[in-house]
Amino acid sequence: MIESGKTYVVMGLLDSDSIAYAIGETVREMGGNVIYTVQNERMKRIFIDRSKKLTDEQKAALQIEYCDVTVDDEVARLFTKLGEVAGVVHSIGFANPKTCLGEEFHTDAIDDIKQALEISSISLATVVRHAEKAMPSGGSIVTLTFDTRNIYPGYNWMGVCKAALEAIMRGLARRHGHQHIRINALSAGPLATKAATSIPGFSDLSSTWDRMSPIPWDTSSSKQDVANVAAFLLGPYSRVITGETIHADGGATIIAGNLLDHEK
Ligand SMILES: NC(=O)c1ccc[n+]([C@@H]2O[C@H](COP(=O)([O-])OP(=O)(O)OC[C@H]3O[C@@H](n4cnc5c(N)ncnc54)[C@H](O)[C@@H]3O)[C@@H](O)[C@H]2O)c1
Repeated sequence: MIESGKTYVVMGLLDSDSIAYAIGETVREMGGNVIYTVQNERMKRIFIDRSKKLTDEQKAALQIEYCDVTVDDEVARLFTKLGEVAGVVHSIGFANPKTCLGEEFHTDAIDDIKQALEISSISLATVVRHAEKAMPSGGSIVTLTFDTRNIYPGYNWMGVCKAALEAIMRGLARRHGHQHIRINALSAGPLATKAATSIPGFSDLSSTWDRMSPIPWDTSSSKQDVANVAAFLLGPYSRVITGETIHADGGATIIAGNLLDHEK
């Protein structure tokens, strides 16, 4: 589904549970040259080098660059260094769980909200501003979002960040369309990763999907299904799709109320 032999940059690898890892390995199996980015060297040491889930062979096969998306120079350097790229995955998000997530929506931790917006939303524009130079013949950029049509308990300011992310994605799609650079958001259902398990009430979110998803959803195995959709969005079969939020979530977010017994 992707273009074999071309380079794809997958940003936001933390460990082998990351959505970035599932997407990167899927693209690699399809013949893509995958460059992962990890936030910094310390994170690689802790979460990749010491990982018990990855074999030494798997670790050695990972091509890794470091990139903190809040540091403009690091993003610039990344895309100058890599040569031409066909696709970029922005699989990055952070919000302080103590202040931006949880039972209370209100907070006076404005700096934490700004940080969450900078990392989780605005960074997409930073990435695209530098990635465009590495895409002289066009390309595809995919960011990861979570349902912004409904309001979930505890997701609070991250929900705001995702709404901003999708608005930024549409602005970028309009701006870069004439360069044949497409930008879309992939809206995944809940998946077991480090970021997800730091959301207070993640298990409630998973059980919501159990009650609402017409297509059975599994927080582990559905990761591969999400990765397959990412590969479709990165590759030429989706070349007239841009500025869209594509839901790969089992259909849960279009359902009102719970599924009835006969629908399960
Ligand atoms: N897991 C889910 O249920 C789910 C569902 C829908 C969307 N998403 C989104 O998918 C994306 C990936 O999350 P994940 O669930 O794979 O978790 P993850 O914890 O594996 O990945 C989050 C990544 O963001 C990176 N990051 C945070 N701050 C950064 C910075 N300043 N610079 C560079 N990288 C930074 C982290 O290092 C980490 O690699 C996020 O945007 C998340 O909101 C997740």
